[in-house]
Amino acid sequence: MILYHKNMNQSTKIQLKSESVLLDKNEIARTADLLSDYIQYLNSVAESQKYEAPESSINLPTDNKMLEVIEQVLLKFKNAQLKYVVVVGIGGSNLGTMAVYDAVLKDQNQQTNPLPQILFADTVSAKSLQNLINILLTCSKANEFAINVISKSGGTTETIANFEIIYSALREKFIDIDRRIIVTTEIDSKLWLESTAKKWSTVSLPNIVGGRYSVFSTVGLIPLALAGLNIQELLGGALQMRNACLQSDNQFNPALLSAVVTFLHYKNGVKINNSFFFNPELESLGKWCRQLMGESLGKQFDSVGTEVRAGITPIVSIGSTDLHSMAQLYFGGPKDKLTTIIYHSETESKLTVPNERMLPSLIVGINGKSPAKLMDAIVGGVAEAYKMNGLPYVTLQLPTISAETLGELLQFKMLETMFLAHLMNLNAFDQPNVEDYKSGTKKLLEST
Ligand code: PA5
Repeated sequence: MILYHKNMNQSTKIQLKSESVLLDKNEIARTADLLSDYIQYLNSVAESQKYEAPESSINLPTDNKMLEVIEQVLLKFKNAQLKYVVVVGIGGSNLGTMAVYDAVLKDQNQQTNPLPQILFADTVSAKSLQNLINILLTCSKANEFAINVISKSGGTTETIANFEIIYSALREKFIDIDRRIIVTTEIDSKLWLESTAKKWSTVSLPNIVGGRYSVFSTVGLIPLALAGLNIQELLGGALQMRNACLQSDNQFNPALLSAVVTFLHYKNGVKINNSFFFNPELESLGKWCRQLMGESLGKQFDSVGTEVRAGITPIVSIGSTDLHSMAQLYFGGPKDKLTTIIYHSETESKLTVPNERMLPSLIVGINGKSPAKLMDAIVGGVAEAYKMNGLPYVTLQLPTISAETLGELLQFKMLETMFLAHLMNLNAFDQPNVEDYKSGTKKLLEST
């Protein structure tokens, strides 16, 4: 039964389609109406241009003052010798940057004009840290790298420990290393105070903007701009999507419709949300989406303090790789997942399966076809399998994988999460239970 079947939005580049959604059209409309006051409120937040409401991250794409600060940082740190941008941060402080970097910049053909590479230090791992340090030690001058320590609170164990290890491994070779440090943290955190005292370049982000909503702030924009991303395009995409998702006409508001569809499935017991990416460079975007949904909607208490133990479990799948490990469960197992197929069908490719093949008797129908054509068929096959098994899915079609479409996607997901939290009566902006492990870790470290 497909009761809702149309292109939901036209003004954005990415298109959301509900192809197999087992819901009643009137119920979708009634639930969408529950969000009309909240949309009005979001419009007032956007009009204010202030950072007062928890939703204020929606004002980042139009923040020209922030862009001036970033411009100053670029003037100081960007140069023709820059080879490596090191991001020392975890969770909301690095996942957005990694999502955009891996999708848009990482695999670009860099033979003629190499762009600076971003190296990430997030978890504590001797092996990864040593690799990162070894790479930086191949530089002959400190100008060849920039180290961006990012911690909103300024008190995250992994980030501070990783920075200390990297700094102490490099300081002997690069005596002017302090010139190459950028610290991004909230004003007046302990890190802010230490960093300004040491005269490191120190930049802030609005206190009210939480880590997982901070990709369009200095947190994401500085490392991405240093690595060569056109951040205006990223912000342009974000703004375009923001405007589409703040409109009151439910029919054409993609984040609202996606939130409603997800919420109604959740109410019907479909409590797993599968983001199924068919372009492997979007895997890190999947991890960012997972954090956003996990931390924003996984809550012990609702907004009025009643214990609810609520949550939608986000999972990430990569096509076609995971079809060879998870498809059996997805198609044959419990009907407890709502899937979003996210796909860009590549048009340009010099590669094709040759017509004169080495193994012509194996697999018919592939001669002369590009990897994109093969993937189109796989995605089509997956969609058929979902329909055949009566499993709900929506698709997000990406016309390109670019700074602009990534801006749209990230903004879409953040607004969808805010709408979902509103429908579920949850606070989308706190993460009180993350402290459970953080304080335990600190206690153990202090006692040993
Ligand atoms: O989204 C969040 O709030 C968290 O994932 C944080 O970003 C993460 O714990 C890192 O915190 P901080 O930026 O304070 O070091």
